[in-house]
Amino acid sequence: MSSERRRTTCQVFWKKLFEAIRRLPAMSWLARWYSLKPGSMRFFVAAGCAVLIVTRISAAESPREHLLLDANWKFHLGDDWPGALHLDKAGVAGGPASDKLFSDVTWRTVNLPHDWAVELPFDRAADASHGFKPVGPGYDKTSIGWYRRTFDLPASDSGKRIWLTFDGVFRDATVWVNGWLVKRHEGGYYPFREDITDVVHFGGRNLVAVRVDATKFEGWFYEGAGIYRHVWLDKTAPVAIGPDGVFVYSKFEKNVPSEQAEISVEASLLNSLPNPATAVVSCEVVSPEGETVARFKNSAELARESQSMVTFSSKLSSPVLWSPESPKLYKLLTTVSVADKTVDQTEIMFGIRTVGFDTKNGFLLNGKPYELYGTCNHQDHAGVGSALPDALQEFRVKKLKEFGCNAIRTAHNPPTPELLDACDRLGMLVMDESRLLGSDSENLRKWNDQIRRDRNHPCVAIWSIANEEFAVQDSPQGTAVANTMQNLAKHLDPTRPVTYAAPEGDNFWGINSVIEVRGWNYHPGPDMDKYHAEHPIQPNVGTEQASTTCTRGIYEMNTARGYVPAYDHTPSQWAQSAESWWSWFADRPWLSGGFVWTGFDYRGEPTPYGWPCINSHFGILDTCGFPKDDFYYYQSWWTTKPVLHLLPHWNWPGKEGQVIRVDAYSNCKQVELFLNGTSLGRQDMKPNSKLTWNVNYAPGTLSAKGFDSNGNVVADAEEETVGEPVRIQLTPDRESINADGEDAAVFAVAVLDRQGRFVPTAQNKIDFALEGPGKIVGVGNGDPSSHEPDVFIQDVPVNTIPVNDWRWTLLKISEDDTVSPECAKDFNDSDWKILKPKASGNESTIKTENTTAIYRAHFLLSDQDLSNPELQIHFTGCDDDGWYFVNGQFVGESHDWSAQPTFDIKKFLHAGDNVVAVKVKNSFGEGGLNPNVTVEMIGKASVPPWSRSLFNGWAEIIVQSTREAGEFKLTATSEGLAPASAFVHMRSCPPRPYVP
Ligand code: GAL
Repeated sequence: MSSERRRTTCQVFWKKLFEAIRRLPAMSWLARWYSLKPGSMRFFVAAGCAVLIVTRISAAESPREHLLLDANWKFHLGDDWPGALHLDKAGVAGGPASDKLFSDVTWRTVNLPHDWAVELPFDRAADASHGFKPVGPGYDKTSIGWYRRTFDLPASDSGKRIWLTFDGVFRDATVWVNGWLVKRHEGGYYPFREDITDVVHFGGRNLVAVRVDATKFEGWFYEGAGIYRHVWLDKTAPVAIGPDGVFVYSKFEKNVPSEQAEISVEASLLNSLPNPATAVVSCEVVSPEGETVARFKNSAELARESQSMVTFSSKLSSPVLWSPESPKLYKLLTTVSVADKTVDQTEIMFGIRTVGFDTKNGFLLNGKPYELYGTCNHQDHAGVGSALPDALQEFRVKKLKEFGCNAIRTAHNPPTPELLDACDRLGMLVMDESRLLGSDSENLRKWNDQIRRDRNHPCVAIWSIANEEFAVQDSPQGTAVANTMQNLAKHLDPTRPVTYAAPEGDNFWGINSVIEVRGWNYHPGPDMDKYHAEHPIQPNVGTEQASTTCTRGIYEMNTARGYVPAYDHTPSQWAQSAESWWSWFADRPWLSGGFVWTGFDYRGEPTPYGWPCINSHFGILDTCGFPKDDFYYYQSWWTTKPVLHLLPHWNWPGKEGQVIRVDAYSNCKQVELFLNGTSLGRQDMKPNSKLTWNVNYAPGTLSAKGFDSNGNVVADAEEETVGEPVRIQLTPDRESINADGEDAAVFAVAVLDRQGRFVPTAQNKIDFALEGPGKIVGVGNGDPSSHEPDVFIQDVPVNTIPVNDWRWTLLKISEDDTVSPECAKDFNDSDWKILKPKASGNESTIKTENTTAIYRAHFLLSDQDLSNPELQIHFTGCDDDGWYFVNGQFVGESHDWSAQPTFDIKKFLHAGDNVVAVKVKNSFGEGGLNPNVTVEMIGKASVPPWSRSLFNGWAEIIVQSTREAGEFKLTATSEGLAPASAFVHMRSCPPRPYVP
């Protein structure tokens, strides 16, 4: 209830209660009270369904709908309605959570996924580890956001179950549907869902309101803020597969693939009917080539209002195995029928493969030793923060694969499902990590949901219960909690091992003593050998290694800007260079390989600096995905193709004659370096190492040749002294994307010299313009100290005119939209009483029941005011019924005391004096019109031009498709440079099913 309400909650409640009771027919109010009791409500609803069962099931051609609910949410930043949450009575949420006539017309329209933190300016006083964004403790005004979205449900959906699923909201979400509080979810990384069937309007409009509270941190890295993953609306028949209800896995004897796989399926079925049902569950397995290779079925007696599990298994001959190198996916179609009618069908992609850890040979994939070339990654990307279009997940996985990465650790939280989809499709193993160690019921519920959601993905190779839980990892309690989480993982998924990312050396206490696979965060060296010798039956994996810090394109320390040279640098005492950790692991197969901290730079943790540095330097790639030099170190030793890379670039005016360190990253047997054609010597390359020369700088060409063991040249590399930039180059990652409103093209922006050579030192500011069906969603450049905006938000100016000077009088008037003389523009109300804004506090103007009154006020508008595209009048409430008039014309009515009606009034207005009149009827207790009425003038939307500076030669711009097929043209301009344009074709493609 807003602070402007003139009555206390209590007064209003009793008034409304008595009014409701009075209005009920004598017999039915008793019945209504009765039906509100939880138990009888269930019966009431169920009985209704019973009538529907027969028709619903028999008519269910495609009962399940999985609809994206991402587009066109209204968003408001700020907790301007602290009283919205009502815990006293059901269905009476306040402010924007109310489904009454609250107006969100001035709110910004956003599409999900959405991260408002990335939109905010950097703030030196904000938390460094979160990237200096004004969100979190101390930033109350910018840490709470509201989202609203309406959707229609046809009457024909009545009888179905309706589910609302959020894949991830940062952070604590309170969700209302039609004013009903349906969910309070704590945390920022776990999915949550709710069956909202009871509170939706079939055959009508429904409102979802979400309050997102990011005033607390969960991590020590950038976490974003908002509904940053997808939202789904699911419709199912009353007998259906439960949420994440199908688990399919394959097994082989001794966990080594052979000619015959055993495919097991567990299907969890929900029967929300008040009577038992016999369900037949049929499975069809479709091979990667599209052929049906197995069918099997089972049936189950489902008790009324119950959840049951159906399990079955089948043999599959000559299975095609999944691996990162050959990511072949099978499809499982699960169909449920009741009385020979299909009531549900789901489709799940899965892979057939085995994973395991061996004490001597390390990680095993499909029964064979398989070195993990892993990277840990947080989830944010340049331009978009934590709200990644799905296409960016694919983009990022491909970038990682380019340098041979074959595994991702989802540090330190459950991943977004689309990352796992991309890993399944493109071939990337995943260490799937929880956010927090805990065996309280809530944490176990989240851990349970994470495993149930992710366990069908062949990419997921191992579960990680937590990361670096310093305070508890060695305690008996921490050990017990870890055991409980590990046991739950084993119970839900018999196919995968479990680890814990331990920041300890030779320490077999606590969690390390009970965890299946010993995880190593750092500590390469004698500790590892000692531990392994003393605990030979425990397998090992390098859960987190390196923390090497490099800034892309920087070769000299720059503490003022917060840049670290890109020479495989190690600033912190826990960290190692790429070469030092990897060469240690590469020599020890039992370690299984490991996960580099990190694949991509991320916002926050600007180690070793603070402000002005706002993001980390740990990445092998920068925040955009542009490679740092270490990329080539890993590519040399993690891929088999010949690699030869030189650093630094060769543009050092003023350093002529000075010594510059030149490194070669290569997997060739020997490398010879040349400056302007003169050999500077040939060196042997030790496995997993790199080579260094000290070179007296002279402009020109630094080049190298790489030789194999027979002395043949198998690779070469060149760094040239280039000229000034003269033109821009735009390169999209793909020339054609889907016109589905979701796909996105990622452009690399660079500048070239007169000879068309890339200029690695360029910092030009580039402006962007887009024509055609596309939408720019973010820009970045990988500069860890750039404070340029990543997003340019559409600005819709809203000006408010207060309408304060009201006069009123009690008067017998018609209770409808009839224009009485008192509503007329020039009616003389000078002898009416004055109603001052707020002056009356809780006092009502109408003191008696069944009494009408009329209220009038004036406001002035100029011609310029009238030129605004929209003008609205906003009321803060009217007790009980109101009819609203502007300049003597009826504009609308309200019949709910808690409504805050808003009406479009542009067509009724003119320049000069305007009059608003409200007829009010108080039916019960006291009533009247609430003051604080406003006229909102909503101006033309304007989008500031997008721009971004290059950082050491590169910038990135991300453009998302609309649902319109065709072509968009991106143009990049910069003063003094020839512009560039690039076209991306949007091929017509049916969008994923979505809620209109
Ligand atoms: C680790 C931690 C990571 C990150 C890293 C930086 O100890 O697990 O989240 O903070 O240090 O080097």
